[in-house]
Amino acid sequence: MTMSDTLLKVDNVTLRFGGVTALDGVDFEVRRGEILGLIGPNGAGKTTCFNVMTGVFKPTAGEVTFDGERVSGRAKYAITRLGIARTFQNIRLFPEMTALENVLVGTDARHKTSVVGALFRLPRVKAEAHTLPESGWRRTFALTFGVSRHIAEERAARAKALDLLSFVGIEGHADAQAKNLSYGDQRRLEIARALATEPKLLCLDEPAAGFNPAEKARLLELIRKIRDLGLTVLLIEHDMRLVMGVTDRLVVLEFGKKIAEGSPAEVRENPKVIAAYLGVPQDAA
Ligand SMILES: Nc1ncnc2c1ncn2[C@@H]1O[C@H](COP(=O)(O)OP(=O)(O)OP(=O)(O)O)[C@@H](O)[C@H]1O
Ligand SMILES: [Mg+2]
Repeated sequence: MTMSDTLLKVDNVTLRFGGVTALDGVDFEVRRGEILGLIGPNGAGKTTCFNVMTGVFKPTAGEVTFDGERVSGRAKYAITRLGIARTFQNIRLFPEMTALENVLVGTDARHKTSVVGALFRLPRVKAEAHTLPESGWRRTFALTFGVSRHIAEERAARAKALDLLSFVGIEGHADAQAKNLSYGDQRRLEIARALATEPKLLCLDEPAAGFNPAEKARLLELIRKIRDLGLTVLLIEHDMRLVMGVTDRLVVLEFGKKIAEGSPAEVRENPKVIAAYLGVPQDAA
């Protein structure tokens, strides 16, 4: 079987919130291995697009397919397992948990036995322990194989989480509570957590918001490193220099509609895009 070049396809997607049409017949594809930029003015529908792709909203019409599977209508966790991960425009971490634990939450999305559950002794895990036979060979068997598998998985997950923290450049903060990390490090931590779900497609919603030029340059490097791992990246970003510098292609939304698509050079010259960004009526551009 040959792998299709298209990893994700947004097919004629419309999403209405009451009277607001947040997405209006949007069509585009994300190609395997590329860094695709999704840009457009405030309120254009970019975040809503991520929300449809990750199962937060079901489209009013149209559908999203990922790696040949229909996404629209599936639950969020099921979409994560298919291989789509995202970060949020407004950082969403578990503030009281350590950086390492936050990444383990991402790792957990992949595993049958919950490492996070084991760490915090959640009720579900306790309940499983109670189902152990009282005695006899069944108990010995369950303990020997069940528990050792559990410990091995927990170790592997921790090692992987540490690797990811080091990959995004914050391994020194593994044991710090997420709320005590700097703003930039929290954004990096979100990326590490998303990567922990072992995605094929990583969707970043304004990862450089609030960054200074030096932090932006580091982020750009990180995005390239992520692509070099073999991942596909979909990037929402307002900073045009960053977008133009890192993306292979761009899709431009305005008022819920796709108004342009192409290479950064093509899109930059597109009169509709210029008008959308400068706020000039289209016929005057
Ligand atoms: N949950 C919601 N309920 C109602 N309207 C919504 C909801 N989410 C988004 N919208 C509306 O949908 C439109 C698109 O919003 P969206 O957040 O996707 O824009 P955006 O392109 O991400 O903008 P920004 O660059 O400011 O983040 C806006 O008009 C917004 O008010
Ligand atoms: Mg947004």
